[in-house]
Amino acid sequence: MSPLDVITGAYSYTGRFVAPLLLQHGRKLRTLTNHPDRQNPLYGQIETLPLDFDDRGHLVAALRGADTLYNTYWVRSNHGAASFEQAVRNTGVLIDAAREAGVRRVVHVSIANPDKSNRPYYRGKAALEARVRASGISYAILRPTLLFGHGDVLINNIAWFIRHLPVFAIPGDGQYRLQPVFVEDYAEQIVAAGLSSENLTLDAAGPERFSFEGLVRLLRDAMGKRTALLRVPPVLALAGAGAVSLALRDITLTADELRDLMDEMLISTEPSTCRTRLSGWVYEHEAELGHQYASEVNRHYRVNLGLG
Ligand SMILES: NC(=O)c1ccc[n+]([C@@H]2O[C@H](COP(=O)([O-])OP(=O)(O)OC[C@H]3O[C@@H](n4cnc5c(N)ncnc54)[C@H](OP(=O)(O)O)[C@@H]3O)[C@@H](O)[C@H]2O)c1
Repeated sequence: MSPLDVITGAYSYTGRFVAPLLLQHGRKLRTLTNHPDRQNPLYGQIETLPLDFDDRGHLVAALRGADTLYNTYWVRSNHGAASFEQAVRNTGVLIDAAREAGVRRVVHVSIANPDKSNRPYYRGKAALEARVRASGISYAILRPTLLFGHGDVLINNIAWFIRHLPVFAIPGDGQYRLQPVFVEDYAEQIVAAGLSSENLTLDAAGPERFSFEGLVRLLRDAMGKRTALLRVPPVLALAGAGAVSLALRDITLTADELRDLMDEMLISTEPSTCRTRLSGWVYEHEAELGHQYASEVNRHYRVNLGLG
């Protein structure tokens, strides 16, 4: 009989690339999500249940019989009813439920450079890594930098602004670096980590580093646009992002995200593990880059089809 795995968010971003690989490996799949996508070709192949952290009994039942739990759940910012503190609590409930259900292995998605300092996103991730390690369940913790690929938010939306506006604001000197990783390479790394049995903690980072301004220039050149790049004080960039967020009713860039970006939190200090180069990928995919704005609020706050 095929082993059963459980994944959070099989129709969201990371999960959408991990789920088909697991099916290809002959695994049976159950997903926990509040955004089931009936149009997704995977829908008929995956058992889809709600992700309800308030119903521990349901969580344990949903995890019972599972070999591996792939956990991608997290929130991007404190917004509306969602907060980092709540996401830490919720993830703790999920890990405890996995232990109670007898899950063999947890593959937990973290982030490169989790730390205990005053960065709410990274502090929450560090706390959860410790929780996973202390759970007694065999684990793999994967730490991606910044994901790119079909359907991503940040790089796609930078491209959207470049495509649609005459001027793009670069916060500060734009020389702080980032090291994007291709989501499909990363999904392969996640599945390989799930299929192994040793406890491991690994960064997932692509082969190239860019300055932020270099990345924006790359996207602009790949799309053949002439958008002017204007260096502005970070505080002004944030005010602009705030105004755009209001106009689009979305979260474009938070103060924490800008600070983390400028402090080079999106690069890895380990050897690169993923092969796809953003510099090649953007030219191959320039026709699809930035045509459609990717709304965080639409993805995670508006649509809730409420299963079960
Ligand atoms: N995207 C990146 O560039 C990046 C970089 C570094 C690390 N990571 C990490 O990778 C993991 C997956 O990220 P992703 O970008 O691929 O995320 P995602 O697929 O958009 O979301 C992952 C999961 O979290 C749930 N979720 C997201 N926002 C939520 C909210 N506000 N309230 C309730 N549930 C929410 C989703 O629920 P539904 O299934 O209901 O949609 C889904 O199950 C996260 O742990 C993230 O920290 C991502």
